[in-house]
Amino acid sequence: MQILGIETSCDETSAAVVDDHRVLSNIVATQAVHEEFGGVVPEFASRAHIRQLTSIIRMALEKARVKLEEINGVAATYGPGLAGSLLVGLSTAKGLSLALNIPFIGINHIEGHILAVNADHPDLKHPYVALVASGGHSILVLVQKPFDYHVIGQTIDDAAGEAFDKVAKILSLGYPGGPAIEKAALSGNDKAIAFPRALLDRNNLDFSFSGLKTSVLYHLHSLQKNSKTIPIADVAASFQKAVVDVLVEKSFRALYSHQCRHLVLAGGVVRNSILRSTFEQRCAAEAIHLQIPDPLLCTDNAGMIARAGHLRLSDGQKSPLSLDVAPNLTLNQPR
Ligand code: KG4
Ligand code: ZN
Repeated sequence: MQILGIETSCDETSAAVVDDHRVLSNIVATQAVHEEFGGVVPEFASRAHIRQLTSIIRMALEKARVKLEEINGVAATYGPGLAGSLLVGLSTAKGLSLALNIPFIGINHIEGHILAVNADHPDLKHPYVALVASGGHSILVLVQKPFDYHVIGQTIDDAAGEAFDKVAKILSLGYPGGPAIEKAALSGNDKAIAFPRALLDRNNLDFSFSGLKTSVLYHLHSLQKNSKTIPIADVAASFQKAVVDVLVEKSFRALYSHQCRHLVLAGGVVRNSILRSTFEQRCAAEAIHLQIPDPLLCTDNAGMIARAGHLRLSDGQKSPLSLDVAPNLTLNQPR
């Protein structure tokens, strides 16, 4: 079975083709138009999707060496995300389903992130705990069986990726902030500044990153007040370490409190190599089975949507053509 996946929930226009075993192609076009604004401008995002999507789909088919008529099903993100952006991908998928007379399935973007790991590790064992750390979400999910998601922890303010983006903006490092902070941190000392690790003293699985961002801001203000130069590399490394420490600690609390030994990481922040190596070391030390997607499958991409679509369509599920976009869709919401 060959499935075409489409992802247009935010500022990445992406199309991918998967078969039963592999991701055959996964084309992602990042929209450069937002860079000068330091964040995504919704109307520009939808317009860029309209302009690019058809050629991105063509490229995905060509790279996969699959003809449009050979596609057996089409999957597209229907939420959460920007309404105008979601509409472009969803409408295109429905049009293809109608024209080719093949099933269509709407995919929850957060489920797509979690199931990205399935592209390289089809032997996913249940139950597992998934940490989703992206620009829009920071959640811990207990997955007891396929398609059964229980959110057991979440951020009470900013998402982890959002904190990276905001701190990068404060440090004038550009957008998106995650890769910029990771690069700046390379030459820094992660113990230079003792930034707070929020909510670690609380007996829950929730996160909070907004205070950390404010601490960075206060730290910079006090340096400026005393006419000291800002040690950007040290600030970046210490901030990055604070985020990683909290994500690791809460993920392990989630594993132990639910007697679970399998951990899956998902979302754009999981591209961070310090985060990946810290999780790898701790999981090895505590005999936790860790599965992390390829970095290209962590940030927004259609490969993860196509894989999730493949799993659901193989299970006999499909969506009606009347399916609407759901900008505020949550993981637990009934389909
Ligand atoms: O999953 P994603 O592509 O989009 C959402 O669904 O939000 O995640 C994007 C987020 C951005 O906030 C970006 O700064 C962050 O992932 N990110 C990173 C890295 N690469 C992307 N954060 C830390 N380190 C990275 N290397
Ligand atoms: Zn995402």
